[in-house]
Amino acid sequence: MVSNFRELLARGANLPKVFVLSLLSALQLHNNEIMDSIFDSRLNNGRWEIDRSTIKLLRKLGAGQFGEVFEGLWNGTTSVAVKTLKNGSMDAEDFLREAQIMKRLRHAKLIQLYAVCTMEEPIYIITELMKNGSLLEYLQKDKGSTLSFSDQIEMAAQVASGMSFLELQNYIHRDLAARNVLVGENNICKVADFGLARVFMVSRTKQRTSLNYGTKFPVRWTAPEVIRYNKFTIKSDVWSFGILLYEIMTFGQMPYPTMTNYQVIQQVPEGHRMSCPLKCPKFMYHMMTECWNGKEQERPTFETLLWRLEDYFEQDVSSYDDANNFH
Ligand SMILES: Nc1ncnc2c1ncn2[C@@H]1O[C@H](COP(=O)(O)OP(=O)(O)O)[C@@H](O)[C@H]1O
Ligand SMILES: [Mg+2]
Repeated sequence: MVSNFRELLARGANLPKVFVLSLLSALQLHNNEIMDSIFDSRLNNGRWEIDRSTIKLLRKLGAGQFGEVFEGLWNGTTSVAVKTLKNGSMDAEDFLREAQIMKRLRHAKLIQLYAVCTMEEPIYIITELMKNGSLLEYLQKDKGSTLSFSDQIEMAAQVASGMSFLELQNYIHRDLAARNVLVGENNICKVADFGLARVFMVSRTKQRTSLNYGTKFPVRWTAPEVIRYNKFTIKSDVWSFGILLYEIMTFGQMPYPTMTNYQVIQQVPEGHRMSCPLKCPKFMYHMMTECWNGKEQERPTFETLLWRLEDYFEQDVSSYDDANNFH
């Protein structure tokens, strides 16, 4: 099937792009399904909850607000990433409900959730392992020494691809940021931690019975309507995507670098926006400002963002300057 498909693509230079892309995404889904069924049958006989004794934690990869992440080995054979959640950071039932949905979300640009251990604390979330860690660290380490402008556009397009899949599924990420995009070999980027923010918030709201998310709430990535009315939609994810574009173009700089969190909360809903980063082409900055439209319905869809990034990427590198002049 795959060789036929490749042949078709090679011959099909003139096929409508929408057709080629839908074939491509069908193939990617297919590959993920194969991976998933291998994982299910070899490792947990199709069971969703697995015995934590089958997981060996090998080395700590990092730590986040809610726990630590390890490289792990499942049944002594398969490399995985294991996210261990701090005790009490979320309700096991809430999490399991969300995890059922997350497990069904399969796409080449989304981190695949494989299994969970929720019978006792700490809760384990087992996902695919990404060799190069978070996009934020990847960008900060590189600072542009090896990553070119077209690599930056390609990474942004991959995130837009994962997000346009979520958009199609009517699923909201709620915590899109470079720290939640993971990088594999050859600059492959996949969106991670979708849905987790909701579970954490539900738990926190239960505890506090208020919409006060505490000091760790990622205000610099958050759309004004979320800050004001707690209104999460795919359009608030589009806002965060604009901030992520800023992170990509600045090699992981903190958004609103000269402002405090308090100033961001005060001034962004009043219309304050970041200015164009150094060396950032006008068309990329233009895309960011569209994502930061105060009226959420006027922000572009992820599908549109994906097409525009891909179209730009397909252009000859030499025409970048010309394209800049149009904006
Ligand atoms: N699937 C994974 N593969 C490789 N590294 C990962 C994976 N998931 C998380 N990490 C690493 O662990 C770190 C912490 O992740 P996380 O707990 O999601 O915290 P945060 O999103 O706040 O950085 C990430 O920055 C990344 O370096
Ligand atoms: Mg994360």
